Amino acid sequence: MNINMIWAQDINNAIGKDGDLPWRIPEDLKNFKNITNNATIIMGRKTWDSLPIKPLPNRRNIVISSMEQKDVESYTSIEKCIDLLTNTEKDLDVYIIGGMSIYKFFYEYANTLYITFIDQSYPDTDTFFPISLKQIKSDFNLESKTDIDKIISFTKWVRK
Ligand SMILES: NC(=O)c1ccc[n+]([C@@H]2O[C@H](COP(=O)([O-])OP(=O)(O)OC[C@H]3O[C@@H](n4cnc5c(N)ncnc54)[C@H](OP(=O)(O)O)[C@@H]3O)[C@@H](O)[C@H]2O)c1
Repeated sequence: MNINMIWAQDINNAIGKDGDLPWRIPEDLKNFKNITNNATIIMGRKTWDSLPIKPLPNRRNIVISSMEQKDVESYTSIEKCIDLLTNTEKDLDVYIIGGMSIYKFFYEYANTLYITFIDQSYPDTDTFFPISLKQIKSDFNLESKTDIDKIISFTKWVRK
């Protein structure tokens, strides 16, 4: 299984506020859609709850929760999910789409990171990416960086 992670963060590593994204950035949603289209995506239950459209179309949606979720493929532990995916499809490309605890678990297994950097600070944020940028830079090489405007950049990182 090839593990990719994708997220957007502000200058304080913030990724969420009140169960939602702290920002509305259409270019970032478009980029997320392009990268994850037709792939398998794995998320925590709160991220699933936050989706305006469920399931996200053209993707195999997988949710991790201590409670089995209705109307979506769900697993009550991350280990069960990984076991099933690795035993059924060895070359599967999966995208970890959050939130915090799910990123934290998968970080050490991830080969590729897609990070949107938002060079701005948002108020009252309550959820943060759990790994520092310093740590990411020591574990991954920056493969590409596209500046969308003065504050938004799309980046791709590959494990050293
Ligand atoms: N900026 C971004 O790119 C981005 C991406 C994703 C999410 N977000 C934001 O992040 C916030 C949500 O993230 P979050 O960290 O609060 O929540 P989350 O990781 O999406 O979901 C947490 C839930 O996942 C389940 N879970 C996690 N680990 C588990 C385990 N080992 N075994 C079983 N279940 C497990 C639990 O569900 P149960 O409580 O049902 O047991 C837990 O309450 C929202 O604000 C969202 O908008 C931002």
